[in-house]
Order: sequence, then C-alpha cells, then structure tokens
Amino acid sequence: MAEHLLVDASQSKAERYQSLIPQIEALVAGESDVTANLANITAALRQSMNFFWVGFYIVKNNELVLGPFQGPIACTRIAFGKGVCGACWKEKKVMLVPNVEEFPGHIACSSDSKSEIVLPAFKNNEVALVLDVDSDQLNDFDAIDEKYLQQVMKLIERFI
Ligand code: SME
Repeated sequence: MAEHLLVDASQSKAERYQSLIPQIEALVAGESDVTANLANITAALRQSMNFFWVGFYIVKNNELVLGPFQGPIACTRIAFGKGVCGACWKEKKVMLVPNVEEFPGHIACSSDSKSEIVLPAFKNNEVALVLDVDSDQLNDFDAIDEKYLQQVMKLIERFI
C-alpha cells in the first residue's frame, strides 16, 4: 500500500479526481475489510479534495447509520426518505443540493454546511450505503464531482 497520496493541489478539480481515483483503486485493492476501505476512502477524498465533511451512511436495520467519515462530528442515524441522505436512499439516485436551506427536510448536522452531494452504492440492486460530501460554500458541487464520485461508488460496489 502506498504511504502517501500524490495529488497536485494546483491542478483543476477534474485533474485531481483523475489522479486520485486510480490511487483509491490501488488503496482498496489489497484489502477486503469494508470498514478499513471506507475509512481510507474518506481520508483520501478529504485530503485530496479538501472537503469540509465526507463520509458514509450505511443501511442497517432499515435506517442509515453513520460509518467512516472525516470532518466534524455528525448525526448518527437517518430514517428512510429523511434529509438528503435518506432521499438518496429512497430515490436510488444522486442528490446534488446547491443550497441545503432550500432542500425540504435537510438535516443540519453542522450549521456550516451550505451545499451537499450524496451518491448511492448498490448491492443486489438495493442501496447498501451512501457517500455524503458537504461543503461550507454554497453551490460547491457540480457535474464534475458527480461524474468522478460515481466512479468512486463503482469501486466501492466491488467490495461491499
Ligand atoms: N445533511 C445530511 C445529513 C448528514 S450530515 O450532513 C453529515 C442530510 O440531510 O441527509
């Protein structure tokens, strides 16, 4: 396993994702433990993309339960359909929220969170977990984040 990630902070967002994703692939390739891999993925994403909060909520007994994350402490449980994460689970699709205050039912774990993207990962055609990324800036996520974070979800689907 590589000890350091090599992502050049001066590069564009797309370039940073392009350099990061093969490194994430290598990072998880030699490890089968789901928690260990999810934990390293949150660290890799936070470190390379400088996200305010990045973490997983995992479907357990019909609710989402906080999994590995990097950033400020967060809510531990989210019901089906509730908040942006619960909506992602229910609708089985990416939720891109430019302004969390305009999202009905948004769950404010931190008042500093201003925009958010949440993506699902599937196992046997059901949502098994979601990746939640929060920013302290409005309108901070776009189609570039969606495209590359989708690739991260596809990597995750290989080992969950
Ligand atoms: N805002 C999320 C809750 C999780 S935290 O942002 C870490 C939501 O509405 O589902």
